[in-house]
Amino acid sequence: MTDPLPLWRERSGSAVLLDGFHALKHALRFGAEVPVAVATDRRAALALADELAPDVRDTLDALLTEVPEAAYASLVPRPHPTGVAALAVRPSRAANLERLTHTPRTAPVVVLDNPRNLGNAGAVIRLAAGFGATGVVTTGTLDPWHPTVVRGGAGLHFATAVERLAVDELPAGPLFALDPEGEDIRGTKLPDDAVLAFGSERSGLSGELRARADHLVALPMRPQVSSYNLATSVAMTLYHWSLTGGTPAAPAVS
Ligand SMILES: C[S@@+](CC[C@H](N)C(=O)[O-])C[C@H]1O[C@@H](n2cnc3c(N)ncnc32)[C@H](O)[C@@H]1O
Repeated sequence: MTDPLPLWRERSGSAVLLDGFHALKHALRFGAEVPVAVATDRRAALALADELAPDVRDTLDALLTEVPEAAYASLVPRPHPTGVAALAVRPSRAANLERLTHTPRTAPVVVLDNPRNLGNAGAVIRLAAGFGATGVVTTGTLDPWHPTVVRGGAGLHFATAVERLAVDELPAGPLFALDPEGEDIRGTKLPDDAVLAFGSERSGLSGELRARADHLVALPMRPQVSSYNLATSVAMTLYHWSLTGGTPAAPAVS
């Protein structure tokens, strides 16, 4: 069996770390190119695949190389309970832009305007993947492919287009900005080509984003509560889209 570590070291600078069995499973399901994958216990990882992901079991069988615990621990910042890790090729900006601007768009693009919390960004990418959103765009300095965001997204960056853009580069389409001061979302149908924008955890929507917005919409909230968490706001909005105009989700798989 070839030693995977030289290839790992060669690719780790530019590749995306998939931390754990579930991240690798999701990435493979959504077509990620995975040049190298390791496991501390190959048999256990394949048994997990038999149980939870028979659809990618053969791919995992061909990819996974067993490595000693110490070698595995040297590759990942925090060992994962499944003892599995892999590197995936990050989709190019051009490929993401192609997906984000492709028309007609059949599902919304989510925009996080200057998000600050890496965990929120990961949770939003997972939501976008679950609802089949076209993509997640961030404005500002946060890197949506930061390893902590990828960990929070559970490998689902590959199920949607994830890119950082400036406000004036956002994809075309009616822009619905979410703000507690907007019109009640329950009276609004969100179209499939909507761009759904959410403000920063600390300061809400930027002036630049507000200026681009076609509609300002609010999630129902009892008086005296100032706002919801960013990721939960995205969840409610995508759910509203799925009820009022969205494509029905396919049955869930683990
Ligand atoms: C934590 S909130 C931001 C709170 C911030 N202090 C502010 O001034 O808006 C993050 C984002 O979630 C969305 N959000 C939270 N609660 C909302 C609500 N009730 N209606 C619409 N959007 C909401 C908005 O897009 C908001 O900018």
